[in-house]
Amino acid sequence: MKISVSSAAGSAVPLLVVPVLEGGEQDAAFRALDGALGGQLSTLLARGDLKHGFGETSLVFPHSDAAGAERVLLVGLAKGAEVTGERLRRAAGTAAKQAGKSRVASLAFALPASALPVAEAARAVAEGLVLGGYDFRVMKTEDADAPAPVALEEAVILLPQGENESAAAEGARTGEILARAENLARELGNLPGNVATPTYLGDTAERIGRERGLKVTVLGPDEMRTEGLNALLAVAQGSEQEPRLIVMEHRGGPEGQKPLVIVGKGLTFDAGGISIKPAQGMEDMKFDMCGGAATIAAMQAIGELGLPVNVVGIVPSSENLLGGAAMKPGDIFRAHGGKTIEIVNTDAEGRLILVDAISYAKRFEPAAMLDAATLTGACVIALGHAATGVMGNDDGLVQEVVRAGEHTGERCWPLPMFDDYREQIKSDYADLKNSGGRPAGTITAGWFLREFVGEWPWVHLDVAGTAYGEGKLSYLTRGATGVPTRIFVQWVMDRAAAAGGTSPA
Ligand code: BES
Ligand code: MN
Ligand code: ZN
Repeated sequence: MKISVSSAAGSAVPLLVVPVLEGGEQDAAFRALDGALGGQLSTLLARGDLKHGFGETSLVFPHSDAAGAERVLLVGLAKGAEVTGERLRRAAGTAAKQAGKSRVASLAFALPASALPVAEAARAVAEGLVLGGYDFRVMKTEDADAPAPVALEEAVILLPQGENESAAAEGARTGEILARAENLARELGNLPGNVATPTYLGDTAERIGRERGLKVTVLGPDEMRTEGLNALLAVAQGSEQEPRLIVMEHRGGPEGQKPLVIVGKGLTFDAGGISIKPAQGMEDMKFDMCGGAATIAAMQAIGELGLPVNVVGIVPSSENLLGGAAMKPGDIFRAHGGKTIEIVNTDAEGRLILVDAISYAKRFEPAAMLDAATLTGACVIALGHAATGVMGNDDGLVQEVVRAGEHTGERCWPLPMFDDYREQIKSDYADLKNSGGRPAGTITAGWFLREFVGEWPWVHLDVAGTAYGEGKLSYLTRGATGVPTRIFVQWVMDRAAAAGGTSPA
């Protein structure tokens, strides 16, 4: 989607989006349009016909060319002082969906005056437009009789008077890149397990590497055996699909600068293995690679933005099936980090492939490391779909992640890592066992990872409840959400800014 910013209304558009504020004086864009329509909008508003609650919309067909639009979508936003990035993102998501319904390929969005810096506001609108325009349709056969869907190709963000155009354009560019990356993560997540295999993820990472100038290394089973990535290999044993360890390097910082490392679980289908899952809802386990998808997508955005830091993205990828060679409860493997693991539940496989990746990551001497995984059903029980569970060995880093999530509208909530929980994963037969049972299942999984992290600053994001869902927000669709793609990139942007580099909005 081509997104531009403009300080003046241009030629007539098929769809003009104008925010309606709740109570008090309306924004300048609303007043100008109302004037052009001879006060029609204020009459409708006074009569109660024009909705102004947050998220409510009205579609108006102006009777006069003076409006400069074939249709006007009025979106309830907030009280003027309460315009946040997330509210703009949702309003823009609504706008993109309306464009789809109205079958128009371009729109203009009148950005209301607010306390937000214009770059932030333009970025949020760009994100909402691109995210809201996403739809998973590659697997549907086109209906020859139905008219083909119209994609939103062009958007103009109309700026309030006196705002800095180049700052806004930069913000919009950042938002477009972030949201397009997030849509890539969604697409990878939504693709079924028979298409999005470990090999497919590896090929996708290599393609992105070529396009964005990233160094990409993909390890297959032979290299894994040489490296001693035995926990990842153990999970892959039960499947015909070859596992992959995908490593993507962005070298935007000075040579020798320790990189930021992001790791994502790329389990392309989780049947549970010999400890098989119930059939009900098992199809959702194609989403078990969403952490890995977000990692690949974040690396695309980081490369495209050319962020002035070194970043390494790592995705361990496998299926978890029940072939004759599958790992069994009671089996013991020596992981890459040197510790032995007793398998007590083959369905606790995510932590197995992750600890090998985390241990492998140490060769890069990470300045800090984040990992994201659809790791535990317990996290969905604890936090539902409203927040990503976060935990780590560095409170400052946990706060960085929480703040990044507030910035991008992807909420994170810290869970405690008391030493007590660690006891649950001690094994009688090996150094560790791969499940601590039901109590505090999210935290004991976190502790399992931590045993392999050592002293490197690290935070784990359990996205089991947030990486896919029903698509309740305007900028979401049913299926993969792309979370935590934007958190990852935001965190890297914040780190780059703190290191004194210039960073986009
Ligand atoms: N991929 C699942 C976790 C999951 C469950 C994600 C539901 C999203 C929705 C993970 O591999 C798993 O199976 N975890 C087990 C761990 C248990 C065996 C200790 C779980 O949560 O039941
Ligand atoms: Mn599992
Ligand atoms: Zn899993």
